[in-house]
Amino acid sequence: DRGNYRHFMAKEIHEQPEVIGHTLGHYLDLTAGRTRLPEASGPRASVGVGGVDWASLDRITISACGTAYYAGLVAKYWFERIARIGVDIDVASEFRYREAPLPEKGLALFVSQSGETADTLASLRYCKQHGQTIGAVVNVPASSIGREADIVFPTLAGAEIGVASTKAFTCQLSVLAALAVAAGRARGAINEAEEQALVAELAAVPRLVTEALRLELTIERLAKRISKAKDVLYLGRGTSFPLALEGALKLKEISYIHAEGYAAGELKHGPIALIDETMPVVVIAPHDRLYEKTVSNMQEVAARGGRIILITDEAGAEAISLEATETIVLPTMSDLVAPIVYAVPVQLLAYHTAVLMGTDVDQPRNLAKSVTVE
Ligand code: M6R
Repeated sequence: DRGNYRHFMAKEIHEQPEVIGHTLGHYLDLTAGRTRLPEASGPRASVGVGGVDWASLDRITISACGTAYYAGLVAKYWFERIARIGVDIDVASEFRYREAPLPEKGLALFVSQSGETADTLASLRYCKQHGQTIGAVVNVPASSIGREADIVFPTLAGAEIGVASTKAFTCQLSVLAALAVAAGRARGAINEAEEQALVAELAAVPRLVTEALRLELTIERLAKRISKAKDVLYLGRGTSFPLALEGALKLKEISYIHAEGYAAGELKHGPIALIDETMPVVVIAPHDRLYEKTVSNMQEVAARGGRIILITDEAGAEAISLEATETIVLPTMSDLVAPIVYAVPVQLLAYHTAVLMGTDVDQPRNLAKSVTVE
């Protein structure tokens, strides 16, 4: 049931404050200000925290496809920074054939909305054969991936009908953020006070997402500009880099406008050759420790007549005075939660562009909701 919404995708975008809150509630004890991984079931239930012996892990390997892969890519930054553990990540269709050597004490994480993606499942089986602890971040726990995992970390997004993943993505990010904080604590990389501070930051996400949704009219107006373009470039650094990739994917799949996501620092290494007055550049840049670096990239774009749509916060908007730059201004928030909240304007921009293009938003051409063939 679409309720009062024109598309399932719109409904699912707007459900995010609620389902993220629900998902986080499953992994955080807000009164104690601690992470609380659900009791693991099965043979490893008594091991470590939530079925994982985080303290003795050598490395984490993540595989997934599409949007779920981008959630894993954000998590790489989190696990490395917060838990001081190295992460290898690849798209499952590459990982499964690479014959990668795996660490002795390794955790392999698989991220999937459906839990039925063929390449992700094949990667899981490879990791299982090679002695990894298998964790699944899935929206459908009774799926193949859920059933074959040692530990299931459910996203509580509810059924996602739109082919373009929205609420499943932000719920995946929410689970992975909680796991990174729990891992950080279990490994002694953060202390109790730091854990409490990070948990408090996560607790603010539903409110911040609600505030992001209030920007919909501004975003709808900017979508007009995107809808006239033939190509769009998305740029970001740090955890905003996977969001740039996600923004480009979302735009391609539902509006059929060609888009590419790049790490902002790669601009000079090729894509800058594409920039002219006709090419919108969407820059995702909260005012964090990398902001100034991204500003230099924006100056390079502006100098070539490129038109920028900057998704930032108040401090970021104040610090910039470039011509031909439009801003989408989010509230100030912590580094940890920014990728979860910044996903919302990225989704809305793609959604409103697709509506203007008159495409079949919930059932885009050539795409299936769950890709069970290789
Ligand atoms: O069910 P999964 O999460 O394993 O699906 C992975 C991808 O097929 C999926 O995220 C796809 O990229 C979406 N259409 C993105 O919006």
